[in-house]
Amino acid sequence: MGCRIVLLGMPGAGKGTQAEQLAQALGVPHVASGDLFREHLDKGTELGRQARAYMERGDLVPDEVTIGMVAERIARPDCANGFILDGFPRTVAQAEALERLLKGNGTALDVVAFIRVREEVALARLAGRWTCRNCGAVYHTLFNPPRQAGVCDACGGELYQRPDETEEAHRRRLQVYQQQTAPLVDYYRRAGLLVEIDGEQSIEDVQADLRAVVESACGSLTAESAERL
Ligand code: AP5
Ligand code: ZN
Repeated sequence: MGCRIVLLGMPGAGKGTQAEQLAQALGVPHVASGDLFREHLDKGTELGRQARAYMERGDLVPDEVTIGMVAERIARPDCANGFILDGFPRTVAQAEALERLLKGNGTALDVVAFIRVREEVALARLAGRWTCRNCGAVYHTLFNPPRQAGVCDACGGELYQRPDETEEAHRRRLQVYQQQTAPLVDYYRRAGLLVEIDGEQSIEDVQADLRAVVESACGSLTAESAERL
C-alpha cells in the first residue's frame, strides 16, 4: 500500500513548493534529487565534488551517480509506505532504473503528476527565488515573499540564492529539460501514469488539484494525514 508519486515539470514549475506541502499532508518523505545533491555539496563529499560542476552549469549530473544516490534514499525504511519524488527521474534511463528498482521490491509508481507551465513563467519564477539555508523552504520575492526579507518564516534561517540561479544557468536548465526530461511526459503517458496539472495557477490552487490527483490514484488521504491538512 502507500503512495508512490513522481512530480514532473520544468525547472521553476513549482515541484519543490508543491512536494513540500503534499509530503506533510500525506506523511511520506519528499525526496528531491537536487536537495540530495546540495546536501552532498554542503558536506563536501566525493559525490558532491563530482556533481558540483554539472549543477553550476545547469547540466544533468550523470545517470550512474544520480541513480545510485536516489536508490539509496528510497531504500530507507521511511520510504516503505511511499514517497514523493521531485526532480527524479529526469532521463529515460533514470525512469527505467526506477521502474526496475520498484519492481524488485514488488511495488510500482501510483501516479506521475506533470506540473505544466510555459517557459516564460518558469524563468520569472526562477529569477526571484530564495531558499532557506537551514530547512530548504522556498520563497519568491514577488509571488511568495517571506514576512521579513532574508529570513525564513518557518525556521528563522537565512535565505540565500542557489549557485545555479544565474540567468545563463536558468536558460541552460530549461534547454536540458526540453532535450532530456520532456520525453518522460510521453513515456509516462504511454504507461498510463501521467496526469497533467495546470501549474500557472496560485500555489494553493495547484496544491488542491494535486491532492485531488493523488486521492484518485492512491485512495483518499488517511484519517491521520487528513487531520494534518
Ligand atoms: P533541482 O534542484 O531539481 O532543480 P530543478 O528541477 O531545476 O527545479 P527547481 O528546484 O529549480 O524548481 P521547482 O520546480 O522545484 O520550483 P520551486 O518550487 O522551487 O536540480 C538542480 C540541479 O541538480 C540540476 O540542474 C542538475 O544539475 C542536478 N540534478 C537534480 N536532479 C537530477 C537528476 N535526476 N539527474 C541529473 N541531475 C540532477 O518554485 C520556483 C519559484 O517559483 C519559487 O520561488 C516559488 O516560490 C515560486 N512558485 C512556485 N509555485 C508558484 C506558483 N504557483 N505561483 C507563483 N510562484 C510560484
Ligand atoms: Zn527555514
